[in-house]
Amino acid sequence: MPKTKYHTASIFFHWLVFFLVIAAFAVIELKGQFPKGSEPRELCKTVHGVIGQLIFIAMALRLIVRFTYGVPKPTNPKPLFVSLATAMHWMLYALLLISPIFGILYFQYGGKEIHFFGLVWPQLVTPNPEMKKVVEGIHEFLGNSLYFLIGIHALAGLWQHYVLKDATLRRMLNKIVI
Ligand code: HEM
Ligand code: HEM
Repeated sequence: MPKTKYHTASIFFHWLVFFLVIAAFAVIELKGQFPKGSEPRELCKTVHGVIGQLIFIAMALRLIVRFTYGVPKPTNPKPLFVSLATAMHWMLYALLLISPIFGILYFQYGGKEIHFFGLVWPQLVTPNPEMKKVVEGIHEFLGNSLYFLIGIHALAGLWQHYVLKDATLRRMLNKIVI
């Protein structure tokens, strides 16, 4: 039977990831305020890496909920709208799962330790400055694409709520059972 509402876990992870992404972007922007090689700059990178790993875990759990419980169809039934919304949601899943992998590779090719709440990742690749540059470029590109896509996605959600006045945002806030 088609779903009419989001699972509570989907809603919880949606907004958790939203706050984590803001934190990841904020910390990496803050990094630019400190001189190269300084302790606070390195700390920003470490914190950014920890948040990025949390995003990966939250997105993976969310994907499991999506596959096991399912999600409701987009509220607007027009085929073009359904395709755009579905494509946007899968692009967000893909980017938020792939970006952390390139972040981890960036640290690893740079020969730097990756921390995660007291754990340290084993070195999985041989440090290589050239590969570090390539991976850095990809991570940066994915991060910038995310800024763009999240902006459009959030605007679309607000447009549906304030202009079309439909139930899309309310059901993502668990305020409605349709
Ligand atoms: C979905 C999760 C992530 C997002 C959205 C993200 C996004 C970004 C963005 C936008 C930048 C700035 C790029 C620029 O300078 O323009 C960046 C830099 C960076 N990211 Fe991530 N990132 C994520 C996960 C990770 C993870 C898991 C790690 C490592 C464990 C990581 C390591 C880094 C590092 C080290 C930099 C700084 C590169 C430099 O020295 O300038 N990131 N990230
Ligand atoms: C980091 C930021 C965000 C990401 C990565 C993100 C990602 C997603 C994804 C993947 C979905 C599909 C449903 C699912 O599988 O859980 C979704 C749905 C939704 N998002 Fe976001 N979102 C973000 C921020 C926002 C913001 C700021 C708003 C507020 C305007 C918003 C409003 C919505 C709404 C209303 C839906 C439901 C769409 C529908 O039912 O057709 N999202 N979001």
